[in-house]
Amino acid sequence: MEKFRIGLIGCGVISDKYLTTCQAFDFIDIVACASLNIEESKQKAEIYNIPRVCTPDEIINDPSIDCVLNLTIPAAHAQISIAALNAGKHVYSEKPFVTDLADGEEILALAKAKGLYVGNAPDTFLGGRLQTCKKLMDQGVIGLPTGVMAFVPTRGVERHHPNPDFYYQNGGGPLLDLGPYYLTAMVALLGPITRVCGLAKKTLDERLIESQPRAGEKIPVNVDTHINALLEFESGVQGSLMASFDVWDSQTPRMEIYGENGTICINDPDPTDGFNIFGGQVLYKTRETARWVYRPRTPNLEFWSVAENTHGFNQEARGLGLLDLAYAVKNQRPARANGELAQHVCEVMFGILESAKTRQFVEIKSRCELPEALPENFPNGA
Ligand SMILES: NC(=O)c1ccc[n+]([C@@H]2O[C@H](COP(=O)([O-])OP(=O)(O)OC[C@H]3O[C@@H](n4cnc5c(N)ncnc54)[C@H](O)[C@@H]3O)[C@@H](O)[C@H]2O)c1
Repeated sequence: MEKFRIGLIGCGVISDKYLTTCQAFDFIDIVACASLNIEESKQKAEIYNIPRVCTPDEIINDPSIDCVLNLTIPAAHAQISIAALNAGKHVYSEKPFVTDLADGEEILALAKAKGLYVGNAPDTFLGGRLQTCKKLMDQGVIGLPTGVMAFVPTRGVERHHPNPDFYYQNGGGPLLDLGPYYLTAMVALLGPITRVCGLAKKTLDERLIESQPRAGEKIPVNVDTHINALLEFESGVQGSLMASFDVWDSQTPRMEIYGENGTICINDPDPTDGFNIFGGQVLYKTRETARWVYRPRTPNLEFWSVAENTHGFNQEARGLGLLDLAYAVKNQRPARANGELAQHVCEVMFGILESAKTRQFVEIKSRCELPEALPENFPNGA
């Protein structure tokens, strides 16, 4: 089998997760890596047996590479993706897809004109947990969906990321950083969003780095760090989302989906998986099992059913969307974690932030298809 040859651009923190996962995917071969820091690239090449360390331009211009894996910082995503497409390569990028919608439109138009594929993180919605939610919904367990809520309460990234600066600059903030996991899940399960409004605030002007090697250094904040949004879906479903870098802790569930006959609840992220929910249990209650139980203690989960999870990818699996894209190219079918979905999610996020400024609802123009369920035995049946 001829492998799908990938050139990695961006060898920072998240690249370790991709490189670990991709080593287990037979159809993918990471053949070269590049970043702005040659020492960092060399180090990753050595750890993960990547044959070549190059400059970003060398990767982009190498005719033997099929696809660029773009793990650069948000402000560089579009520039790298556009250059890769112009050089005739498919591209799979980290989130957010773009920091400017016009760049997203250019990327999608370029890909269409050249017959190339654009994929984008997050791919958590392809993991066992959210695919189990999809199965419950497709089986009609909660009936017609009516509402969805997601809560993403964090205290930011300066306690664990060695270089947290970009999270507090254009393209960062909790909505653009963590919102994509939950908004992509919502759209993949419930369809596109048509209208949004939001409130947003910047709580602190500076953040104190607590992680090594820069502990004690203060960095400026130029983004909103606490955001609440209302979402109207084309289907009539109503949603809400809270995303924050200003919350120390919380007991709210991460996501709930309400239907005329029941509720699905993702009560907590898998402790090994942060907020990224590839795995973890899915709870549900239906008309038959629901009852109002009033007890002076929380959490009160014993009256919920735990959904049977028959899907794969319940551990950290970043790169699953890239593998799906590789098979999509091979079999000439749509990629599930695709650019249209990512552009729609970006329009929703930018709309929320615009609404917070203008104090008006914002209409969302783009639409996208619901990605098909991932076969339970993927990559068999890919
Ligand atoms: N760190 C995480 O936990 C995490 C989790 C999920 C997603 N992400 C996303 O992954 C992306 C990268 O995050 P990270 O934490 O790895 O960042 P990082 O700062 O650790 O690494 C960024 C890498 O991109 C390279 N780079 C930056 N600008 C470039 C350019 N113009 N051309 C070529 N290379 C360039 C840097 O040299 C570095 O190798 C971001 O979009 C982030 O939102 C990060």
